[in-house]
Amino acid sequence: MYQTLLTSLENHIFAITINRPDKLNALNHSVMQELSEVFDEVQKNAAIKSVIITGAGPKSFVAGADISEFLELSVDEAKSLAQKGHSVFKKIENCPKPVIAAVNGFALGGGNELAMACHFRIASDNAKFAQPEVNLGIIPGYGGTQRLVQLIGKGRAIEMMISAKMIDANTALEYGLVNYVVPQEELLNKAKSILAEINSKAPLAIARCIEAANSVFDETRNGYEIEITAFGYCFGTEDMKEGISAFLEKRKANFTGK
Ligand code: COA
Repeated sequence: MYQTLLTSLENHIFAITINRPDKLNALNHSVMQELSEVFDEVQKNAAIKSVIITGAGPKSFVAGADISEFLELSVDEAKSLAQKGHSVFKKIENCPKPVIAAVNGFALGGGNELAMACHFRIASDNAKFAQPEVNLGIIPGYGGTQRLVQLIGKGRAIEMMISAKMIDANTALEYGLVNYVVPQEELLNKAKSILAEINSKAPLAIARCIEAANSVFDETRNGYEIEITAFGYCFGTEDMKEGISAFLEKRKANFTGK
């Protein structure tokens, strides 16, 4: 169905694997197009409760945008490439279902930007992170200048961007860029076990937590107002009645997403 992605659905967890291992899973035009399409599928398919994004092979999550597509681009073409990247990654960031990156190796340039567009990140112990664009005379163009500052703070983010230095998984953990570091062979199981737990919670409430958290970084929206509206919204859901009743009856809640 997809040329550059592998997908699988198991226990309501949808795994998306970027599958160009011979090019270290670099994001070419087709990958970006298919990432956009696959997130339409994520939205539509009610059997999908949450998503893992990872890269094929043991070496690389994504080693960046595909540099071989860059040389001939004009200024305007480069701007529209960045705009397209922004819209695909915003689609991931604003996905109402949890999306986590399982970073299985290099997360460089657009690869780190993709990981940062996910709701949070888990890394294997061999993972390496960098924004090496200044080595090429360019800058991050898929939202990285913004999301890196949001996630690790301005000083560390500017140093990473202007030095192109690569950081290892444990440094990424210390920086708050990733939430966990695990041995590579445990990476997907760790991601699945985290999502299995999350999938047992109320999906409509989860979607509103994501929306409210994202609004912190959206100057067109007032996050406090969004929280108030979302809090009220939850009280009109069947899941809220179920969650509160289950607590009072000392049983496990069974959420239906209604
Ligand atoms: N775009 C296009 N192709 C890429 C790529 C990218 N971002 N990253 C790696 N590749 C390709 C290589 O060209 C090579 O292809 P080939 O076998 O047809 O020559 C293949 O993937 C394997 O990469 P290689 O460089 O041989 O592996 P390595 O282990 O020696 O080095 C890296 C690994 C990640 C250090 C190195 O590939 C690299 O620096 N990649 C670019 C990272 C980058 O600058 N990303 C930001 C882009 S904006």
